[in-house]
Amino acid sequence: MEKFRFPWLNETNLSGLPVITERDIHPHHSWERAELFHSFDAGSTEIEFLNLIHALIIATKPLRCLETGTFLGMGAICIAHALRENGTGHLTTLEKDPQLCDKARAALQQSGMSDLVSVICTDSLSFIDNLDDPIDFAFIDSHPSIRHKELSKLINNGILNGLAVCHDTSRLRVKFPIFESRVDIENYMNTLDSLTKHPFVRGTLEFNISRGVRIFQVVSPFMSG
Ligand SMILES: C[S@@+](CC[C@H](N)C(=O)[O-])C[C@H]1O[C@@H](n2cnc3c(N)ncnc32)[C@H](O)[C@@H]1O
Repeated sequence: MEKFRFPWLNETNLSGLPVITERDIHPHHSWERAELFHSFDAGSTEIEFLNLIHALIIATKPLRCLETGTFLGMGAICIAHALRENGTGHLTTLEKDPQLCDKARAALQQSGMSDLVSVICTDSLSFIDNLDDPIDFAFIDSHPSIRHKELSKLINNGILNGLAVCHDTSRLRVKFPIFESRVDIENYMNTLDSLTKHPFVRGTLEFNISRGVRIFQVVSPFMSG
């Protein structure tokens, strides 16, 4: 871990965990440069992309953050650290597997971040359907077959007013499917492409390296007046 100079990593209990190179855990096209990326395991987000998310939260000061797909809580710990740095904000993270919810809660407790995060054991799509309060930052990272539906609902319902980071969006992944089917990833990518033209979307930024992320800047007409 010596080589990572990311404060959030050194200041959480993630710093002691072993790290693997992305090239060694998933199939990749050489253009994705997976040998330069790292993760704690095959299900958690790459450390380099978590660092990007951390920086975006520090820069945009969101009050209400949402993560779909908690898994072991690595993303949640990173987001919570950024909220702690900001001195404001809360994360709600959604996980449908009760055992993973327990593990993530324990990891958050260990890292001293429990007060900043609510781990909700639920299906993300039904939770989003019932959201009333605006979301200022979303990390879309549940099952690839539903992520495009999560983002579409957040945008179409006028709930999202800020940034959404979608994970596993490298365009090269259509040729190199990992845990999802080719149909899932094509639906995901095609819907993201069409959402770039949505009237509430001001801009997007895409990184086709490693597993890939795509960032949407969304302005809800209900929030912007
Ligand atoms: C890629 S992992 C999330 C990794 C995590 N965001 C991180 O950064 O470490 C995806 C997670 O989404 C969960 N998931 C899948 N479908 C879901 C759904 N419909 N609602 C909530 N969680 C779901 C899975 O159980 C799995 O733990």
